[in-house]
Amino acid sequence: MNKQEKEQIAASIQQKFIELFQTRPLLVQSPGRINLIGEHTDYNKGYVLPAAIDKVTVVAAQQRSDNFINVYAADLEAMVEADLSQELLPAHNWSDYVLGIVQQFVRLGLPVKGFNLVFGGNVPLGAGVSSSAALECAVAFALNELFQTNLTTLQMVKLAQKAENEFVGVNCGIMDQFASMFGKKNRVLKLDCNNLEYEPVPFEMDEFKIVLLDTNVKHSLGSSEYNVRRSQCEEGLHLLNQAFPDLHNLRDASLEQLNQVLLPKSTVLYNRCRYVMEENNRLLDACHQLHHNNMRAFGELMYGSHKGLSGLYEVSCPELDFLIEQVRPVSEVYGARMMGGGFGGCTINLVKSQAVEALIESVGTAYQQHTGKTMQAYIVQIGNGTSLL
Ligand code: GLA
Repeated sequence: MNKQEKEQIAASIQQKFIELFQTRPLLVQSPGRINLIGEHTDYNKGYVLPAAIDKVTVVAAQQRSDNFINVYAADLEAMVEADLSQELLPAHNWSDYVLGIVQQFVRLGLPVKGFNLVFGGNVPLGAGVSSSAALECAVAFALNELFQTNLTTLQMVKLAQKAENEFVGVNCGIMDQFASMFGKKNRVLKLDCNNLEYEPVPFEMDEFKIVLLDTNVKHSLGSSEYNVRRSQCEEGLHLLNQAFPDLHNLRDASLEQLNQVLLPKSTVLYNRCRYVMEENNRLLDACHQLHHNNMRAFGELMYGSHKGLSGLYEVSCPELDFLIEQVRPVSEVYGARMMGGGFGGCTINLVKSQAVEALIESVGTAYQQHTGKTMQAYIVQIGNGTSLL
């Protein structure tokens, strides 16, 4: 997305706000995210390698003098109202991402009052690029400004994750909110989810494009499987811990330990934990390859990640697997894998620039013939995190 497009989105959200509430708002933008490698590792206190993208949610907000909250979703042309003097309850729709943040401010005893808010943008919904985190982070950032609550960026990240855990009801890790807030142009963030230390790693690729191929299969993270994976990993670690009391993180487990403790007990737990252990190792290897600018090896690790997600972790789906099979033999596609929680959404592909157009065309046609569904493609660039506009 070029600067002009972002300005257009901001201008139209601002205009809508003025039209509805007759006053000038504060404007905040917050991006969606990609993840190069390190999937389902964040809630296992492992490593992830996400980046913010140049697709953003823009929030326009202004405080009111009473306790009412009006939230307008410009793209859906829908308004939700709430009253801060009463308990906020989830409505199980988009408004939960806004009111969940408000609830966290209230729970922390922060001086939040009524406000009007309009939002919209171009982060694709349900594609696995965390449109929800983009909205949560934009709202947290806007409320922090409006009510001068002086939260640090990391505090806002944690607050947004908690809102998703407690109000939306998805037991997600911290990756999406972290990437949306801390994203840096042309950098991927090597984040250690065990201690939240991170390193922005240069990812400047003149010859490559990051292409997202969207299955158009809508995943619903809330639909149990995500939380099931999470508790399977906890159970696996608990069993390992009984035999090896010093082991507190799946990424530190060895294959011998998994073989000894988990294999005799449960193939499912063994597979889940093996995937997590291997994915963490793949990520460290990938960062090493990136450092040496060895993109072939980096891409191969992405393919390896997909294999693990599909076979051992079982969070892929036939449509995602089909998209990977299609690009695997294409030499200009250096690496590809499903991205995000899984069960739908998109694949992330590292593609030589000159091959992008033909690839989208041919894979799109094959996808349509094979599944009867329409594939969508997004070419994304790595952008900056949440900010005022
Ligand atoms: C979703 C969650 C993240 C992360 C990914 C899988 O995007 O919100 O916290 O667990 O799935 O890597």
